[in-house]
Amino acid sequence: VKRVRTRHFARAKAEGIKITGLTSYDTLTARIFDDAGIDFLLVGDSAGNTVLGYDSTLPVTVDELIPLTRAVALSVKRALVVADMPFGSYEEGPELALRTAMRFMKETHAHAVKLEGGIRSATQIRRIVEAGIPVMGHVGFTPQSEHGLGGHIIQGRGTEADAVLADAQAVEAAGAFAVVLEMIPAEVAARITAALTIPTISVGAGPHADGQLLVWTDFAGLSTGRVPKFVKQYANLAATLLEAAQAFKTDVDSGNYPGPDHSYDDTSAL
Ligand code: KIV
Ligand code: NA
Repeated sequence: VKRVRTRHFARAKAEGIKITGLTSYDTLTARIFDDAGIDFLLVGDSAGNTVLGYDSTLPVTVDELIPLTRAVALSVKRALVVADMPFGSYEEGPELALRTAMRFMKETHAHAVKLEGGIRSATQIRRIVEAGIPVMGHVGFTPQSEHGLGGHIIQGRGTEADAVLADAQAVEAAGAFAVVLEMIPAEVAARITAALTIPTISVGAGPHADGQLLVWTDFAGLSTGRVPKFVKQYANLAATLLEAAQAFKTDVDSGNYPGPDHSYDDTSAL
């Protein structure tokens, strides 16, 4: 299998072929999603919620994401792996942003980095791209600024649409190879997708983007608590695992597990 490269993103947009992405934070899911033909895996700072037990992405550090990103990058044969730059690791300016991106590239084997913000992050994106590191942008709702934005609020409604377009254009002009559009109206995403030459990747931005991305624990029904409206749940892993754990406990309590099939004697093989 040939690796997905950033040029394949450009070609997909030109040819009207949809791009698919899922988050991943570990080797087991990375292998499965790679085998499924998912084009890119994002080691998101959503790991704060899905792996690390925080209630937002704000506390997540580079040191926490590096081992997760490395596990994913070492586990794929085809998918392009994107390392998410956490809150506090790039906002101060282009030199910090480049240092952070360098750490991800040198220590994790990831193929690209992602950072949030349009116009406000353009100099950072440009500096990283100039160093030969592909950047995926992220505009619309940007979870690292949830307090500045006043909560988990849909962006780009009404007269705000032009501001999201301007952010996406700034990301493109700075040299990014793709841009995530998070939680904006479908029609605004359609406008932005038509205006840009780089592919747009929707997370809750409707069907007109060039690609779709979901947090894997949401799409597979493993996340507990409220899941946003835009998520389609393709499995119910939380229920499956709950039942499995309950059945294991019941079997052990009742003496049904382990039986002879799951025990060794002097002669049995492994
Ligand atoms: O961290 C993440 O999973 C993300 C996507 C939801 C865009 O940034
Ligand atoms: Na993120």
